Amino acid sequence: MALSARVETQSGLAETLTRAGAATTAAAVVTDAPAGFDVASNGFAEEFCARQDHLTNSPNSPEIDDDECNFGFAAIEFTGPETVADGVGPVFNATGCGECHIAPALGGGSQIAERRAGFFDGIRFIDHPGGSLIHDRATSATLLETVIESKTNVFTFRGSQSLFGDGYVEAVGSNTL
Ligand code: HEC
Repeated sequence: MALSARVETQSGLAETLTRAGAATTAAAVVTDAPAGFDVASNGFAEEFCARQDHLTNSPNSPEIDDDECNFGFAAIEFTGPETVADGVGPVFNATGCGECHIAPALGGGSQIAERRAGFFDGIRFIDHPGGSLIHDRATSATLLETVIESKTNVFTFRGSQSLFGDGYVEAVGSNTL
C-alpha cells in the first residue's frame, strides 16, 4: 500500500508526497540526519543553497549570494568575531553566535545565560525599556545597560540552547507543524 501525505513546504505550496509503504518494499526511503558533532555539513546547507530561489519567498528570508551560500562560509559567519565596523555595539552580549552556541561543537549550547527582564502588571507583560533582552556588554563602560528596578518585577536567565537540527525544523512549513 502506498502512503500519501499532504506536506506544507516553506513556499506555502502544498505538495503531495507518495512514499512506498514498508510492507510492499524493502528499500528504505527515509534516513536519520547525521549527527557527528564534527562541524561538517549534514547536507542541509547544500540542499538549501540548491533551492533557495524556491525557499526564500519572504522579506524575512533574504537570498544569500551564490558564492557565499555554502556550509564553510556559514560556519565562519556564525563563529565571529564581529567588530564595531561590522555593527557590534554600542551595547551587545557577544561578538559572534559561536560565543554562546559552541558546546560540544559549533552550533551547540553553552553555560552562558542571557538575562531577560520586564514588568508584569497582572494582565500584560511589558518589555524592559530597550527590549526584554538585557545587554551585559558595551563598547564603553559608561554605556553599560542596567536593569531599572522600577520597570522590572520579572526577570529570568535563559540558557543557550543547542541549534543542531534546527534547519530541518525550519524547512517544514509552519502550517504543517
Ligand atoms: C549571548 C549568548 C548568545 C549569542 C551570542 C547567540 N545566542 Fe542564540 N540563543 C541564546 C539563548 C540564551 C537562547 C535561548 C533563548 C530563550 O530560550 O529565550 C538562544 C536561542 C537561539 C535559537 C532558538 C533555538 C531553539 O531551538 O529554539 C536560535 C535559532 C539561535 N539562538 C541562533 C543564534 C544565532 C544565529 C546567533 C548569532 C547571530 C545567536 N543565536 C547568538 C544565546 C545566544
